[in-house]
Amino acid sequence: MDKILVLDFGGQYDQLIARRVRAESVYAEIKPYNKITCEEIKKEGYKGIIFTGGPNSVYDESSPHFDKEILSLGIPVLGICYGHQLMAYMAGGIVSDAGHGSEYGKTEITVKQNALFKNVPEKSICWMSHTDQVTTLPQGFTAIAYTGKCAVASICDEKRGLYGVQFHPEVTHTEYGKQILKNFVFDVCKCKADWLMDDFIETSVEKYKKELSGKKVLLALSGGVDSSVAAVLLHRAVGSALSCVFVDHGLLRKDEGDLVENTIGKKLGVNVIRVDAKERFLGKLAGVTEPEKKRKIIGNEFIRVFEDESKKLGKIDVLAQGTIYPDVIESGKGDSAVIKSHHNVGGLPESMSFEKIVEPLRELFKDEVREVGVKLGIPDELVYRQPFPGPGLAVRVIGEITEEKLSLLRDADAILREEIGKEAFAKRPNQYFAVITNTRSVGVMGDDRTYGYTVVLRAVTTDDFMTAEWTRLPYEILEKVSSRITNEIKGITRVVYDITSKPPATVEWE
Ligand code: XMP
Repeated sequence: MDKILVLDFGGQYDQLIARRVRAESVYAEIKPYNKITCEEIKKEGYKGIIFTGGPNSVYDESSPHFDKEILSLGIPVLGICYGHQLMAYMAGGIVSDAGHGSEYGKTEITVKQNALFKNVPEKSICWMSHTDQVTTLPQGFTAIAYTGKCAVASICDEKRGLYGVQFHPEVTHTEYGKQILKNFVFDVCKCKADWLMDDFIETSVEKYKKELSGKKVLLALSGGVDSSVAAVLLHRAVGSALSCVFVDHGLLRKDEGDLVENTIGKKLGVNVIRVDAKERFLGKLAGVTEPEKKRKIIGNEFIRVFEDESKKLGKIDVLAQGTIYPDVIESGKGDSAVIKSHHNVGGLPESMSFEKIVEPLRELFKDEVREVGVKLGIPDELVYRQPFPGPGLAVRVIGEITEEKLSLLRDADAILREEIGKEAFAKRPNQYFAVITNTRSVGVMGDDRTYGYTVVLRAVTTDDFMTAEWTRLPYEILEKVSSRITNEIKGITRVVYDITSKPPATVEWE
């Protein structure tokens, strides 16, 4: 299989670059610039290398650099933004903040005929975000594009297959960005389009059939996309040797437990063991109001329940996990500040030991996982579901978690999902849910005074959940949802809409 290396210099769009290449059915993998050597690059047989952007200036003492031998390996390179400047600098050019002023945002660019710009018109819009720029070309290079403020918006040394672009072809604001990446991958690197999900399924099933033959496999099923797809894929390979433990902690959305049990278990034939652990979880959570404490309790209890259940299954050889590629990349990057302790089911309980761990999806991005899910026959309802936090509704019940609040929340949330589900959107909100607060207020129904909870509706639009905008939901939907909630659910007297983006807020309330 042909593959492209995305060498990460700390840019914010690194994953996007790899996803764009993969969207062309060419395998791309991301490596931090300091975790791979020229020797290893040669050995891996990459057909091309992309240097990503990054926040530094090439002259900063601490700025990430790379062995300049990389430009002489005979492997084509495309440098993007910082990567473009770094390539020029390594090849002997000069990069400076020449007082031309920085460029940020949509910018008109003029390009010259070139392999990189095949099928790109002379003038188009690109996305710029830089202060420094290449001011003196390295030997052997020519400038092949310019903008109003940047005379060297793209460079190339055609003979050596080295290209650089000051702008970001990976973002959608660059009109012909997709075409440019395609040109690099197919025309410059001569890759074959051979990264296909059908092949991925077939190869994985064959591989695990051999590797796991005669072994008992255990998987923690959360009902989320990743663990569901991992379960069905492995089931194809090992059949009933796979047991999936689905811990129902009593904090799931309305009908969610049944949906998972019925589709993954009954319909697709996977051995799903649904554990009703509601009492255990709610017992431990009684009286607890502090968000981090709730999360910790749920995390710990999850491990205990999972352990107890797996003991009942006798000796297990292999633990399977639904780890996906962004998890792998993130864990290779070191820690950033912990805003919330995320609890994800599928983590390895420390006291349990297995012969090995398998992670069948560790090479896939989320959209690829979904594609595999669809091809495996998992219904859209599960494959395209919105993200749902591991601690479940616990982080959407403010204050103490009680059965009453949980039940009110489930009903309100179901109404919101149903109404948004019916609507045709140009861009559907990426996540939408209800939160129940601890605040009660007075209402009136007929001639009676009521006193009930306040429910918050939340809908966000985002690409990566690191930042998110509150969605401008049409008033008609908000009105319909509010009126249905207050009319159909006894115990909720007020509905409010959360108009805070992230940052400063987080998506979840706790
Ligand atoms: P925040 O609230 O951190 O949420 O802005 C960002 C995204 O992460 C989800 N989320 C979680 N997912 N375990 C998860 O698997 C968790 O503990 C958790 N907390 C938040 C949240 O739903 C949103 O999609």
